[in-house]
Amino acid sequence: MDALTPARNSANVLFLPGDGIGPEIMAQSRRVLEWLDRRRSVSFRIVEGLIGGSAIDAEGAPISEATMAAANEADAILFGAVGGPRWESLPFDQRPERGILRIRKELDLFGNIRVAKTYATLIEASTLRPEVIEGLDIIILRENTGGMYFGEPRGIRRATDGSRYGINTHIYTEAEIRRVARLGFELARTRRGHVCSVDKANVMESGELWREIVQNLGDSEYRDVDLTHMYADNCAMQLVRKPKQFDVIVTDNLFGDILSDCAAMLTGSLGMLPSASVGEKEPSGIRRALYEPIHGSAPDIAGRNIANPLAAILSLAMMLRFSFDRPSEADLIEASVERALAWIRTADIMQQGCRTGSTQEMGDAVLTELDHLT
Ligand code: IPM
Ligand code: MG
Repeated sequence: MDALTPARNSANVLFLPGDGIGPEIMAQSRRVLEWLDRRRSVSFRIVEGLIGGSAIDAEGAPISEATMAAANEADAILFGAVGGPRWESLPFDQRPERGILRIRKELDLFGNIRVAKTYATLIEASTLRPEVIEGLDIIILRENTGGMYFGEPRGIRRATDGSRYGINTHIYTEAEIRRVARLGFELARTRRGHVCSVDKANVMESGELWREIVQNLGDSEYRDVDLTHMYADNCAMQLVRKPKQFDVIVTDNLFGDILSDCAAMLTGSLGMLPSASVGEKEPSGIRRALYEPIHGSAPDIAGRNIANPLAAILSLAMMLRFSFDRPSEADLIEASVERALAWIRTADIMQQGCRTGSTQEMGDAVLTELDHLT
């Protein structure tokens, strides 16, 4: 995929480590960014903010107005993870997750690009057979600001007989469908030229409209891209049966959440998948963007220095490629990750013959390989 914005040599980057393993893994991606700042012609002004449970504890809300303002001003945002058992009993609209959902919504980051790519060195770490996943490189493009996550009405209500019911709304406008589909076609053009649009058009009207709009856009503007449609349940099955049939999957918010976790496991570990959430191109030619590992806060292993920092480091590489048009730096980081994987692994991707490394040591290894390669 080409860069989403023109190249720049200096930038404001907002770090939002969040909760659980977020701070540990983000500390490692920050070291990589600082390495680049010292060693290459890119200079970054790093600002750090709180989000999620840590923001609730220190500032009284899952994201403060000051941090929202910083997010609005940043050239790019690097986000870790939010959530944990400590905050699970809070009312819904005050939970840690609202922090990241608010950024996605208010910055209008409608396209969440989740790349599932297997590393040759990690083939054995997957639970799937090697021939199924060898050479896999697919994108799940998830609609990120609409659908079930934000649709109104929503809530838990009381019926006239006194019993309660929960309600969420799966709603998509034509414009919302069209803009994410367009991004999907554009992505496919820079890759293998295939889009698979995923919906439940067999049972949901919003899915029927989804399918119609995507097909119309393909017919009118992207005849060069090969477009197919698939039901979401079938897609889940095909992802584990024959994942290499896909190139770009474009789907709604809820299906994208589920299918991208599934796609992550194809690569061996949830700890390997970076993602980018992008907005519309602004008049300046810049797209707002937030980069994040797709794994969550993993409270069960938080604070133990054993989490895999590679999805966070690879998210940084995505930022360099897409927000700052720095493909050579992005390549350099990705190559360093691949080389580090050859001799050291965190527990989630451990394999015989490799050294077990902590979060910090995995970061050290990437820095060592960066030094070797330059
Ligand atoms: C993800 C996460 C989030 C989501 C949570 C933390 C709100 O699962 O980014 O996939 O459901 O979108
Ligand atoms: Mg998820």
